[in-house]
Amino acid sequence: MTNKEILDKGQANIMSTYARFPIALVKGKDSYVWDADGKQYLDFVAGIATCVLGHSPDALIQALKEQAANLWHVSNLYWIEPQVRLAEKLTCLSGLDKVFFCNSGAEANEAAIKLTRKYFYRQNEPEKNEIIVFKNSFHGRTMGALTATGQYKYHEGFAPLLEGIVYAEYNDIMSVQNLVNDRTAAVMIEPVQGEGGIRPADFNFLQSLRKLCDQEGILLVFDEVQTGVGRTGKFFAFENYGIKPDIVTLAKGLGGGFPIGAVIASNKAAFGFAPGDHASTFGGNPLACAVADKVVEIVGEPAFLEEVENKGRLLMEEIEKLADPRIREIRGRGLLIGVEFDREVKGLIEICLEKGLLLVGAGGKVVRFVPPLTVNEIEIRQAAGIFKEALKKWQE
Ligand SMILES: Cc1ncc(COP(=O)(O)O)c(C=O)c1O
Repeated sequence: MTNKEILDKGQANIMSTYARFPIALVKGKDSYVWDADGKQYLDFVAGIATCVLGHSPDALIQALKEQAANLWHVSNLYWIEPQVRLAEKLTCLSGLDKVFFCNSGAEANEAAIKLTRKYFYRQNEPEKNEIIVFKNSFHGRTMGALTATGQYKYHEGFAPLLEGIVYAEYNDIMSVQNLVNDRTAAVMIEPVQGEGGIRPADFNFLQSLRKLCDQEGILLVFDEVQTGVGRTGKFFAFENYGIKPDIVTLAKGLGGGFPIGAVIASNKAAFGFAPGDHASTFGGNPLACAVADKVVEIVGEPAFLEEVENKGRLLMEEIEKLADPRIREIRGRGLLIGVEFDREVKGLIEICLEKGLLLVGAGGKVVRFVPPLTVNEIEIRQAAGIFKEALKKWQE
């Protein structure tokens, strides 16, 4: 089928929850994808920070094929070897103790919310069920994760939302402190707000937040769905802050494009869940875990992570060179970079697409650069070159 044929059939048969670009992608290799009409694009979206090893990497194809030939699916009624291998790697890398597997970021956050409530319930403190989240955050689209998302535009029309979620100002410890009370169970935060515009948390703010949670006996939950699995140059973004949360959620990059999510918790927090408290038919599926196990093996290597930091620095420098007067701020860490403009960027992203570079927004005025972590220097310079050309055209 051509782009047009796919688009027409899609519009006729698929719910219109996405404002899609008018192309259908049919093939990908490394940092490139091709549409149904054969046009090639340099992909700095990577499934929105998901295809960490690029498209169709040989190592993941092999891991998937080997697992597919052995065992596709069994219930979590039984032990699953690739799941156990992956869990061991994640606990080792995080310094935390126990993992629950699911299928997406929203599900991971949903599980984390449930875990924090059950944790206090089990300690005979069921009134401790309030969760502090942050304005401008994004945690997913299921009802709990949606409520935790501090942006009204995502809530509109879905009331009633979940009870017991309150919203603090990001990077403002006093605002968190003012919301803490006898009912506070947890604080949930993205170490870099992703969808909210690539806004990194301040070092001192997260240090103070950890202290505050320790003093008050509150569980600290990091949503690392977008920042985790090497995106910021560390396996977990929390490593940039010299602190450790009690619970971390992952998804996106974990399967390198294969659907999987995870909640990693300290022994103390994991005490909240007992058999029957939470479950997922597909969570920790053998295929997903075999792929994710390979992703974590590769991305978890210190040399790989160092390269991400180096490439992130190069991308930042290349973007900073552009010195366009419409650019307000360039923010981010590793290969998670946002360029904020003084106006809406939809038109700019469309010009980039025409010129063969895929980019995605993060809020109306921010262009987000989230290439595969395997992107090379030539591709980074190429992307910056196309972006520069697109900026010129955007002026016309
Ligand atoms: C920080 C964060 N949390 C949660 C989610 C939701 O993940 P999913 O779309 O896999 O449900 C996202 C998705 O963009 C995210 O960026």
